[in-house]
Amino acid sequence: MTTYTTVTAPIEGQKPGTSGLRKKTRVFMEPNYLENFVQATLNAIGGAQGKRFVVGGDGRYFNREAIQIILRMAAANGAAEVIVGRDGILSTPAVSHLIRMNQTDGGFILSASHNPGGIDADFGIKFNSENGGPAPEGLTNQIFAQTKTLDAYHITQKDDVDLSRIGISRLGSMTLHVVDPVESYSTLMQTLFDFDAIRALFASGFTMRFDAMHAVTGPYATEILEEMLGAPAGTVINGTPSEDFGKGHPDPNPIWAKDLMTEMMSDSAPDLGAASDGDGDRNMIVGRGAYVTPSDSLAVLAANAHLAPAYRRGLAGIARSMPTSGAADRVASWLGIPAYETPTGWKFFGTLLDAGKVTLCGEESAGTGSDHVREKDGLWAVLLWLNILAVRKQSVAQIMATHWAEYGRDYYSRYDFEAVASDKANALMQGLIAKLPQLPGQQIAGLTVSAADEFTYTDPVDGSVASNQGVRIMFESGARAVFRLSGTGTEGATIRVYLEQFSGLGGDISQDPQTALAAVWAAAVALTDMEQTIGRITPDVIT
Ligand code: G1P
Ligand code: ZN
Repeated sequence: MTTYTTVTAPIEGQKPGTSGLRKKTRVFMEPNYLENFVQATLNAIGGAQGKRFVVGGDGRYFNREAIQIILRMAAANGAAEVIVGRDGILSTPAVSHLIRMNQTDGGFILSASHNPGGIDADFGIKFNSENGGPAPEGLTNQIFAQTKTLDAYHITQKDDVDLSRIGISRLGSMTLHVVDPVESYSTLMQTLFDFDAIRALFASGFTMRFDAMHAVTGPYATEILEEMLGAPAGTVINGTPSEDFGKGHPDPNPIWAKDLMTEMMSDSAPDLGAASDGDGDRNMIVGRGAYVTPSDSLAVLAANAHLAPAYRRGLAGIARSMPTSGAADRVASWLGIPAYETPTGWKFFGTLLDAGKVTLCGEESAGTGSDHVREKDGLWAVLLWLNILAVRKQSVAQIMATHWAEYGRDYYSRYDFEAVASDKANALMQGLIAKLPQLPGQQIAGLTVSAADEFTYTDPVDGSVASNQGVRIMFESGARAVFRLSGTGTEGATIRVYLEQFSGLGGDISQDPQTALAAVWAAAVALTDMEQTIGRITPDVIT
């Protein structure tokens, strides 16, 4: 087989510290663009000679073509084996699992997560390391450095390989292993949860709607929920992955999963509603008439995890990202286990999971997971909820009410200001940071500041330090406002304001969240002179 070496121009690389490259699809389709990222990654890990990888994606436009390129490059770079999902399909948690189970040297995931897909939408690629988790910062920095000096990539010239049939074949001297995308993952889920109890729950008439949002979890949810657990056909909707996600925005939250929300708030709502995103790592949970915030979901899962076989012996600890509400901390404290507060981004959970310091992790942005893989896992969260519902035999609304009565309620909401001019967004953040030392003790819009800082994280396992991770303002009323700039936006800057108000124990837990958060929102506006600095105080998206 001939190996071609193509000389390339340096490309715009992945931003250091980010766990992947996300761009417009047409950018990825430009000659050499994807090739350069893949070669830079292979160089950064010390070459591919004799190594084994997993490759798969969420099925969006250009997924198939990208996988063919990666396979031919892996072969030309001397890889020993690539495991790929049939038709190129693998969810992000499934890739993480396959890397770990087969002890490969890592894997490539083709996805732009919850961003829309299509030739005029978004595409992305990321490399996960041999622990199954997103590449750590040291590696992403090396990939970036490689993209600046790269002058050639290696690729074999060959027709596309057939990915539609399960089995083993060869591409040059490389073994190509096409696997069922669902099988290993569903086997793992059976080891974690009480499938008999969940099967009995469905058999008793429990109803559910799972919205796969035309994205990758369709085949996973259909196989597990309908085939293995006996949920009636039609439980999974939008279950066939499409290249443009049915022209939708595969982000499981009340804004983008609007049809599901409408059904769940109606008189004919099923008992449980759930959704997952483009690549299957995010989740939304909603009971009949009861939306569960991701922060609350993490807390409820932590408090009830012992009802599922995998977590029967308890949890080592719980980690949440800094902007996620403190609800999980209260559960950790009651359980007498450590609670960790990490910067935004799943990669910060990796060291804690690898070191066995935590069992459950979560982010306010609809990500929840455990030590079973090194990614957040949408369907896993849904199955843990089902396991808990099967054992407790209560509704989601009842479980939430009991939880808040026991632990207090963290009213929570995130306000996003999108496509803000970068200079204005930076001015808002810098203005706020400059004020921080003077804030404690001050009254802002009627609330007294108790503490204010810029979040810096020192990893308790490897000692690495991440600074400038967002601003935290705590108030004596039990409220908190957090401000940070998004690291994943594609247009200008996105300012995220995270609002939280703890009810206290025995406090009123029946308020509407936006009402409960009105005071801390007024303080957030006043603190940042928002009207002046960015010229608007109405968020684009409230979740
Ligand atoms: C967003 C979420 C964050 C998540 C990330 C990747 O990042 O807020 O929790 O880890 O997407 O899914 P952000 O745009 O806020 O930087
Ligand atoms: Zn995702």
